[in-house]
Amino acid sequence: MHRRITGKLVIATHNPGKLAEMRELLTPYGIEAMSAGELGLDEPEETGDTFQANARIKAIAAANAAKLPAFADDSGLAVDALNGAPGIFSARWAGSNKDFNAAMAQIERLLQERGATTPGRRGAHFVSALCVAWPDGHIEEVEAHVDGTLVWPPRGTAGFGYDPMFMPNGFDRSFGEMTSIEKHGLPPLGLGLSHRARAFVKLAEVCLEPR
Ligand code: IMP
Repeated sequence: MHRRITGKLVIATHNPGKLAEMRELLTPYGIEAMSAGELGLDEPEETGDTFQANARIKAIAAANAAKLPAFADDSGLAVDALNGAPGIFSARWAGSNKDFNAAMAQIERLLQERGATTPGRRGAHFVSALCVAWPDGHIEEVEAHVDGTLVWPPRGTAGFGYDPMFMPNGFDRSFGEMTSIEKHGLPPLGLGLSHRARAFVKLAEVCLEPR
């Protein structure tokens, strides 16, 4: 049986960008979102070997600590020609100074080494895994992805992370060249294009009820 989220929800992130995005998405459902940062909760170590496992670790840790339902996400970029790398290590490839230009250049170097120079050999997808955990142990989880092609040099300055080198299938602009409404926005304003938007729609179907 699926369980609906009502009342308060802890957003298990210390990233202000993710918190703002989730607050915006949850507002129509009358949910009061509080962040793990605001509640002074510790960030657990992400020891899972899948996106879903890491989302679950973060949601369960926050639900147990706050004694409230908690939401967490984990995401990243999986490159076909690199057997899914950087995958769950997407953030770590940018190093402690979060240098995504260097991380994108590293991917490009590896693609060139493998002769992946034509669009057909440069496929990749972003993945978003979402999990809501309750203090009594119940969990709800969903995963979604968006397929695309990696372009070089990077295009555009919008977004974050690997956006400038990712061109979603069916579009001739990279995520770095799209507005956030185009990339993440849900219909009717946006296209529900990104992995996170798609995963959120799936989660809303099972866990949320519009006011
Ligand atoms: P985490 O989900 O906070 O562990 O971080 C995942 C990492 O994947 C981010 O730091 C980005 O590098 C990358 N990533 C996830 N989603 C996106 C996206 O929508 N655009 C660009 N990079 C992303």
